[in-house]
Amino acid sequence: MSTSIVINRTSPELKSTYDKDGSCRLPYRFDDDTVELLRQRVADISGQRRPEVVHEKDSDVVRAIHGCHEFDDVCAALVRHPQLVEMAETLIGGPVYVYQFKVNLKQAEEGAAWPWHQDFAFWSEEDAMPRPDAVNFAIPLDEVHEDNGPLVVIPGSHTMGLFDLPDKSEDSTSDWRQHVSNDLAYTVNDDRAEALIEEKGKSVILGRAGSLHAFHPSIVHSSSNNRSADRRALLLITYNAVDNAPANPTRPAFLVGRDTTPVTGRHDERLVLAQVADDIRATA
Ligand code: SIN
Ligand code: MN
Repeated sequence: MSTSIVINRTSPELKSTYDKDGSCRLPYRFDDDTVELLRQRVADISGQRRPEVVHEKDSDVVRAIHGCHEFDDVCAALVRHPQLVEMAETLIGGPVYVYQFKVNLKQAEEGAAWPWHQDFAFWSEEDAMPRPDAVNFAIPLDEVHEDNGPLVVIPGSHTMGLFDLPDKSEDSTSDWRQHVSNDLAYTVNDDRAEALIEEKGKSVILGRAGSLHAFHPSIVHSSSNNRSADRRALLLITYNAVDNAPANPTRPAFLVGRDTTPVTGRHDERLVLAQVADDIRATA
């Protein structure tokens, strides 16, 4: 198939950018019908009362939905999309399984920020994931612009270890809600983030709905409150190396996937991903 030929040709370049920056745009975009189908599933799930649906603090506004690939057939098909699986395997360097699936909805005018943090702080401290041998794929379901709370990453920060971990002797939280709320349990302090930005710059991940971006579990990243009239729903799939699964995970399965069987790609005609030349814009 021509799609695999394209992936094989671009993989080394993608991988070297990803390894160096900890973040890269992927030259593909899901088409409008696919995005609409995903939006419908997100709307259906958001209206359900289930633990996977998390609200903004003291509010009925849905902040995020989790683990949807375990109970929704479109999301289940998405994580098995052959090109996503192949790119994840290329970036990680071996077979992968789905560690996490979520959609952060960042509702218009009400969606709250994600402070500076590193995902691997949660996964190592809470789940005992051995190494940051995982990759996040971010797929916006809405146009992402400067004002609706885009993801901001600090390129190269993924190579510097984990910052500002709380002292182990301090009471650590085991309440998973503090891992998905605006008041995060593991943050990188603002002064440190500013210093890192001075040194390394920052990239604001903007782009059309359906676009694709990869970022590393240890990269320092954040996103601001959504003060605009436009929602910014961001679908995130985390693939982890099969040999990097936490031994005894305790957090809910919708945050830490328990099925570590390698994902094999399977085509689903409802999910159309096309190659694009320069679809995702990132500003320095
Ligand atoms: C966001 O949705 O802006 C935050 C995503 C993340 O922290 O992984
Ligand atoms: Mn994060």
